[in-house]
Amino acid sequence: MKKILVTGGLGFIGSHTVVELQNTGFEVIIIDDLSNSSIDVLENITKITGTQPAFHNIDLRIKKDVKNFFDTNKIDGIIHFAAFKAVGESVQNPLDYYENNIGSLVYLLQEMRDRNLDNFIFSSSCTVYGQADELPITENAPTKPAESPYGNTKQIGEEIIRDTCKANSLNAIALRYFNPIGAHDSVHIGELPLGVPQNLIPYVTQTAAGIREQLSVFGDDYDTADGTAIRDYIHVVDLAKAHIAALQRLLEKNNKTSFEFFNVGTGKGSSVLEVIKAFENATDQKLNYKIVGRREGDITAAYADTTIANKELNWKTEKTLEEALNSSWEWQKKQL
Ligand code: WQD
Repeated sequence: MKKILVTGGLGFIGSHTVVELQNTGFEVIIIDDLSNSSIDVLENITKITGTQPAFHNIDLRIKKDVKNFFDTNKIDGIIHFAAFKAVGESVQNPLDYYENNIGSLVYLLQEMRDRNLDNFIFSSSCTVYGQADELPITENAPTKPAESPYGNTKQIGEEIIRDTCKANSLNAIALRYFNPIGAHDSVHIGELPLGVPQNLIPYVTQTAAGIREQLSVFGDDYDTADGTAIRDYIHVVDLAKAHIAALQRLLEKNNKTSFEFFNVGTGKGSSVLEVIKAFENATDQKLNYKIVGRREGDITAAYADTTIANKELNWKTEKTLEEALNSSWEWQKKQL
């Protein structure tokens, strides 16, 4: 049984990917420092799959602890989620983001190099494209100067991996996520935002649950049909399955170059007002919202051209926006 290390495996996307890895027959080891996740997720993963993944509470910024882990664990592949990911926070504390997101990546890659380990999947983001000139966004779209230190750590991370693949015998794939939303159908795992949610969907569900007074819609003066910004909202389970497909591509040595990257989205754009409508239809909940000014740094529209990912990964999304929103609502109700 192939053994896969999942860093950040107790987080939102990480935990859903661990479930899919176990469902596909992989043995999973999780590293997580619990800085933005809960140890309860380990038990909840086990409730879904019946197998408790091995878990190590390690801070990947501590080089000797990373080395010790690899001294005692033989790994066949790594899916690297562990990173700080709050755009606004990264603007306030850039050095924390560079130290954590870049430092931990470098230490992991050094251990892979020193031990001739292979098969690295990197959690990247469509944020590397900034406001793309053409929509839908293909992998040929140029990357743009990052709007935030968070986005910059994804761009720099990809460059570090690209250079490492060139210099060593490493094979890697970066998955450029669009907007992950939703929760597992079992309602045992989902998104656990700390404090006031920065992202749209957790704010929507917390407003519907009465935890938040009202949703603020950040701007209705964008150059879109209804004036609100457009994103590509992908169900987190579909996203998790894309990681399995990417990992199998590397394990089966079907990759065409040592470093590849794919846009992972639904291919469909939805505006904020369309999401609100879809949420109300899917859950029968009326949402209290108001239009306010734009949020600093937001782009008008982003949605994926999924042609290459569908073909090369032999993967495509199966869940609809309504299914994703309904799963978020089911998960929210369970948190009350
Ligand atoms: C979506 C839309 C907002 C909140 C970011 C990161 C990306 C990834 C996902 C980590 C935008 C609007 C939001 C609210 C609103 N992060 N909005 N009211 O900004 O597209 O992407 O999160 O992996 O890398 O860049 O996602 O959910 O914050 O916003 O109107 O209270 O909803 O303006 O148009 P975003 P988001």
